[in-house]
Amino acid sequence: MTTSFLLEQSAWQELADRIALILGVPITTAFESPNRYLLQGPLTSSGNPMVYLRLEIWLVAKEDIGEQHWAKLGYFVLANDYRRQGYGRQIINATKEWLYSLHRFDQVCLYARPEIVPFWEACGFNPVENESRLCWYPKKIKEEG
Ligand SMILES: CC(C)(COP(=O)(O)OP(=O)(O)OC[C@H]1O[C@@H](n2cnc3c(N)ncnc32)[C@H](O)[C@@H]1OP(=O)(O)O)[C@@H](O)C(=O)NCCC(=O)NCCS
Repeated sequence: MTTSFLLEQSAWQELADRIALILGVPITTAFESPNRYLLQGPLTSSGNPMVYLRLEIWLVAKEDIGEQHWAKLGYFVLANDYRRQGYGRQIINATKEWLYSLHRFDQVCLYARPEIVPFWEACGFNPVENESRLCWYPKKIKEEG
């Protein structure tokens, strides 16, 4: 069984504001579905958004195998001119802090192309054994201190 989990608009706006502070541009937000949210920066001269981040969240996901309070980074891209300047890591760290501040998430996962895995590892995500996803476990990290 999969249950959607809808966060308040104000909670999502807080993340958009954090990313706006990092990039120094306004960030627009949209619900793609009740549990899927999109954050987007202004278009650059090449016609691509400066930043594009899609996040999905579930309160109860895959209940049968005990996975709960789950967030997925669906897609994250920075426009070419803004890469390799530390923005990606800052944005993902801000997203992790924001998810952690909600006190609700057991794990944050994503699927990455192999060549981008070093970026996600630099952001604190670890490959899951025998799977193609990478995860960050906020509560475990806190417990392990
Ligand atoms: C992946 C992406 C978001 C990274 O953002 P970024 O701002 O360029 O990354 P940062 O500058 O914060 O890099 C942090 C660290 O991650 C690693 N890293 C960053 N980009 C990398 C890449 N393309 N390949 C391998 N490692 C990378 C480096 O270790 C880097 O540290 P360093 O610059 O001190 O060596 C950006 O390159 C991008 O938008 N790529 C195209 C879309 C994409 O592949 N998205 C991921 C979908 S899974």
